[in-house]
Amino acid sequence: MRGGSSESNEGVGAGSPTHGLFLMGKAREAAAAAYVPYSRFPVGAALQTASGDVFTGANVENASYGLTVCAERTAVFAAALAGHREIVAIAVAAPRALRASPCGACRQVLNEFAPVEGEMTVLLESEDGYQTTTLSALLPMAFGPRDLA
Ligand code: THU
Repeated sequence: MRGGSSESNEGVGAGSPTHGLFLMGKAREAAAAAYVPYSRFPVGAALQTASGDVFTGANVENASYGLTVCAERTAVFAAALAGHREIVAIAVAAPRALRASPCGACRQVLNEFAPVEGEMTVLLESEDGYQTTTLSALLPMAFGPRDLA
């Protein structure tokens, strides 16, 4: 769905479209911090933890290209290092492409911190704001920490 409406609202602050736009705004701002001398494709991410805290990230590239870390992962690692273990929503913004969607590696890393109950909402930038999907739509039948329990 688009423009701030959402099927799965639990990840964006009681389903508030305003909050979704807030998170997407933070992702856009974060893209300005990207280190992208090789691709020149900045990406920003802003996530919300179960406790309501917001963390941002941006992609950081490397001369050894494969060592690049995506925006989503830098945001996840910032949240994890601050002690957070549940991410309820993440917004991704790439100024050069609408609907930039987390890569496969980032989907798996996000899954590590999926909410114990309910869905992780993923907000992708669209013409009129954002559209929402869920991590389980992006990564069905995921292997995660609970499989090792
Ligand atoms: N990238 C991200 O940061 N997140 C995504 O969701 C897709 C790709 C980065 C990796 C690389 O720095 C650049 O975008 C081009 O692939």
